[in-house]
Amino acid sequence: MLEKLTIIGGNDKEGNPENVKLFEIDAGMVFAIVGPTGSGKTQLISDIEQFIDDSETISGRSILINNHPASEFNFNKSLRYLIAEVSQNMNFVIDITVENFLLMHTKVREIENQKEIIDEALKITNELAGEPVYFSDNLTKLSGGQSRALMVADAAVISKAPILLIDEIENAGINRLKALEILKKQGKIILVITHDPTLLLMADKRIVMKNGGMNKLHITSTEEKELLKSLVNFEEKISNIRDYIRNGGIIKEKNFDI
Ligand SMILES: Nc1ncnc2c1ncn2[C@@H]1O[C@H](COP(=O)(O)OP(=O)(O)O)[C@@H](O)[C@H]1O
Ligand SMILES: [Mg+2]
Repeated sequence: MLEKLTIIGGNDKEGNPENVKLFEIDAGMVFAIVGPTGSGKTQLISDIEQFIDDSETISGRSILINNHPASEFNFNKSLRYLIAEVSQNMNFVIDITVENFLLMHTKVREIENQKEIIDEALKITNELAGEPVYFSDNLTKLSGGQSRALMVADAAVISKAPILLIDEIENAGINRLKALEILKKQGKIILVITHDPTLLLMADKRIVMKNGGMNKLHITSTEEKELLKSLVNFEEKISNIRDYIRNGGIIKEKNFDI
């Protein structure tokens, strides 16, 4: 059971020690990584993905799992199952139905109550996606938003991966707040890389990257959580206007209060 991930700082691009010497991510926590292009976000994620040990990469970082170096665990083969990924450009290319895809995955994961679990997965998918998804839908026909909703649902109830990496799901056409809540409830460690302020403020903590190094560790403040509420509210309004116009509505004065 993965309860805690610890990242021990190494060096930045110039070889200077990182400002953040150590940080911990607990299960059930959402953690964001921010910083301009080239600041080292992908490097940090890849260090975490590889569970590097003893300065194996240029960053010189080490990762501990439940306070122990990853090398102490004898899970060479299963290591890759620790991390599941949901990313922006997620479209399926396999030509099977949603139902068969989910059934296939429950079989691979040796899940017993298959029917119950895939029902739950479809239910979550539909809580997150803008447009309804049916068991009989073909994967290749799903929109980007529907595909991501299905991946999040799959990660929540079928994939056993304790760490979930969410890469750039802005404008993803899914209910992101709900998605994060569902995943948190499953006790997953959630890493988010994004430039989207709403998603960033949904995180419990964020690491600010600079020049290849972990420059700052920030715990999302009460003020920021207040701002998050306004942002979510605002997004809801935009989404309502979008639906209204899509369905043939004509905007008149004071139709919508922004
Ligand atoms: N701590 C580091 N030490 C040395 N090189 C680094 C470090 N972090 C990142 N780099 C290098 O800097 C470049 C940009 O980093 P990258 O992680 O791709 O940035 P980002 O994802 O934020 O755009 C890459 O070539 C990467 O290997
Ligand atoms: Mg990158």
